[in-house]
Amino acid sequence: MKRSKIAGMGFYVPERVVKNEELTRLMDTSDEWIRERTGIEERRYGRKHEETTSTMAAIATRIACERAGIEPEEIDFIVFATLSPDYYFPGCGVLVQRELGITHREAGALDIRNQCSGFVYGLSIADQFVRTGMYKNVLVVGSEMHSMGLDFSTRGRNVTVIFGDGAGAAIVQPSEDPERGILTTRLHSDGTYAEKLSFINPGCHGGYHRNRLDEPVDYGYPPADTYGEIFITPKMLQDGLYYPYMDGQFVFKLAVQKFPEVILEALQDAGLQPSDINLLVPHQANLRISQFVQKRLGLRDDQVWNNIQRYGNTTAASIPIALCEAWEAGKVREGDLVCLAAFGSGFTWASALIRW
Ligand code: ACO
Repeated sequence: MKRSKIAGMGFYVPERVVKNEELTRLMDTSDEWIRERTGIEERRYGRKHEETTSTMAAIATRIACERAGIEPEEIDFIVFATLSPDYYFPGCGVLVQRELGITHREAGALDIRNQCSGFVYGLSIADQFVRTGMYKNVLVVGSEMHSMGLDFSTRGRNVTVIFGDGAGAAIVQPSEDPERGILTTRLHSDGTYAEKLSFINPGCHGGYHRNRLDEPVDYGYPPADTYGEIFITPKMLQDGLYYPYMDGQFVFKLAVQKFPEVILEALQDAGLQPSDINLLVPHQANLRISQFVQKRLGLRDDQVWNNIQRYGNTTAASIPIALCEAWEAGKVREGDLVCLAAFGSGFTWASALIRW
């Protein structure tokens, strides 16, 4: 069975740079707090009401296609990872397909909701499709327009300062060289603490899931024995219950455990050691998490690519943006061993090893 490889990558970040200083005018925070706790100095926000998750993904994809030497209409299958889709449904997969003008053939599109590990999950899906010979050109794209869904008051500061907008795309194709390409992918999940990092409204939970872990919350739902249940109640709007929620310290503790675990698992699977890694591209959750993982694996600074300082956490887009940026900077050369690793909401965590 042939391996698959990343044949071309592209990324797009909006022009508008939002420095920490700008956020201090909206909420009670400081440049010092944000830098110290997260490493973030600035992030990008898309042009409201003009740019969307799918339009940014289309720009990144066009670049990836050009570098892979294909036209967008040659894409057989789309795997789209995002937690900030344009619509509740349909998913962004078909929207980017339309944006790219892929209409004349029987392409398929799949949306995945694996948040920060969405890109690595997507890459694994693409790898399986390509290796079995089902598809030749699979697009894996991660894109996020976080700035449209954050709480810019002091109430939301622990989450809002972390996130940024952007998109990254990869074209996955069969590899002609049996030694090169995706060596392995490892995927994991555990829903026990699903609500610890979540965006639960609008949803049909009716208060059930969230209440398993926290104090009961009154969402203002109509009585259970009435028909015409609604996803968004006036009370949710009034109380700001339609924003992401994060128990930061809980997430931090699990992240620093799962990142090294899933990387070592992939290395073991491929019969390799941490010292064999030429470049680790971790999901850009928090610079402190990446530094912890680097130390744990005994890697030098030049073996890890971090760009959270400039883009914040772009969730499903963070790995393809970082990988593409590293490649553009000449940090990914033929024959290099590249390791991707992610941890995020769900919780889900994943890794991939690629011989470039
Ligand atoms: N500015 C100023 N003060 C703030 C801010 C802010 N933006 N946010 C929170 N605070 C305050 C809190 O209110 C709290 O104040 P108090 O002591 O008076 O109650 C104090 O700072 C400390 O809050 P903590 O949440 O305990 O701060 P912590 O040191 O844990 O840092 C952070 C918060 C950065 C979110 C950290 O927990 C973290 O990085 N967690 C990992 C989660 C993560 O990386 N998430 C990214 C998305 S998920 C993913 O990609 C994996």
